[in-house]
Amino acid sequence: MAQLWGGRFTKETDELVYRFNASIMFDRRLYRQDIEGSVAHVRMLGKQGILSDAETQQIVDCLGEILAEVESGELAITEEYEDIHSFVEAQLIGRLGATGKKLHTGRSRNDQVALDMRLYTREQVKETDVLLKELLAVILRIMEEHTETIMPGFTHLQKAQPVTLAHHMGAYFEMFKRDCLRLRDIYERMNYCPLGSGALAGTTYPLDREYTAELLGFYGPTLNSMDGVSDRDYLIEYLAACATIMMHLSRFSEEIIIWNSNEYQFVEIDDAYSTGSSIMPQKKNPDIAELVRGKTGRVYGALQSLLTTMKGIPLAYNKDMQEDKELSFDAMDTVKGCIALFTGMLETMKFRGENMRASANGGFTNATDAADYLVSHGVPFRDAHGIVGQIVLACIDRGIAIDDMELGELQKFSPVFAGDVYEAISMETCVNKRLTIGAPGKEAMEQVIAIEKEFLTK
Ligand code: ARG
Repeated sequence: MAQLWGGRFTKETDELVYRFNASIMFDRRLYRQDIEGSVAHVRMLGKQGILSDAETQQIVDCLGEILAEVESGELAITEEYEDIHSFVEAQLIGRLGATGKKLHTGRSRNDQVALDMRLYTREQVKETDVLLKELLAVILRIMEEHTETIMPGFTHLQKAQPVTLAHHMGAYFEMFKRDCLRLRDIYERMNYCPLGSGALAGTTYPLDREYTAELLGFYGPTLNSMDGVSDRDYLIEYLAACATIMMHLSRFSEEIIIWNSNEYQFVEIDDAYSTGSSIMPQKKNPDIAELVRGKTGRVYGALQSLLTTMKGIPLAYNKDMQEDKELSFDAMDTVKGCIALFTGMLETMKFRGENMRASANGGFTNATDAADYLVSHGVPFRDAHGIVGQIVLACIDRGIAIDDMELGELQKFSPVFAGDVYEAISMETCVNKRLTIGAPGKEAMEQVIAIEKEFLTK
């Protein structure tokens, strides 16, 4: 047991208590942030004359050595320390003796851990944004290639009106774009430095909080020391953004699973992203999509868990807050892993345009346009709706599409039908007449693609 606080105790901590209380098992991953934070703190102490220049330099150099050794694997972060902060400080003291003991001047583990977690989360926010942009680039490429690939659009999972694959993909582009924007928004709000908040009430040392904030790339210091040590809103916001990303990925996964099914065959997932069955030799399963869909639950769980942990905590720091780490780390790893795998799966997936087209043809997706045709020839919409409904019924009976009906037959339902109806209700016309911005028509789609492309350059 290696603790930083033995002074006022007369007994050793119970072994079980020690283990229950310790966080080194999971906060060891904060070693880099912890050291970076300490370097900034010490440089500030030096600048303020709280430590001498020589002491400052010695500590900064030694922290650099510790970081390099941990990074190279030479120095293992072992569990005999209570947490990562104790580990780093013990290393420093082991190497520098009395000078090392000066590192923690004007600092508490409360502002230290608040800083470490914020630095770590800030990196995660950036990494998640980069991964999302890679996914968006793949989606955009598919959109560019498939502005003429007609497929059925669905409501209630029933074929509704024809759209294009570009249009369908474009919906996901919008979702993940909003996710990027959400992350950038969170970044703006979270990028303030809690270091210097002390245990809860600041400190009597003349710290320069602006300086440490600047050294660590923050916009400035946080403005209330009690809030500084106990604010985890940024993490909750990030987990909420992660939950939303997973919800989007899960919806997309669900569609891919359906599209990849034997019945649909709209897509074929690449062999590298599929798995087989131990018993059924014919199987090629969409496990990656299913796992992404499945992992959504644990990311929601992390958000729920932290919200619940935080809800009863009086100001300022309480040990409950140590519980902000394990599930958050798991959620961060999960989300990043899922985005990357999903991107790879999408990139290598084959789209079966002919099957999409056949499905759109066979699903009366042009029924609305047939009714619109009648309307354009003077039939009131409600009547036109009824007439086309009867035509559809007759077609279902005979297993044909509206376009397959002879003109003479169509005219039995309404004398208004003329030879130009076939052109008017062709899939191409149905799609390409939908030209308002946001609709699937090729020209509208190309306008949108240009806008989305521009977004990716930012
Ligand atoms: N391991 C602790 C955490 O993660 C560090 C802060 C400890 N502070 C304290 N007063 N016990 O929250």
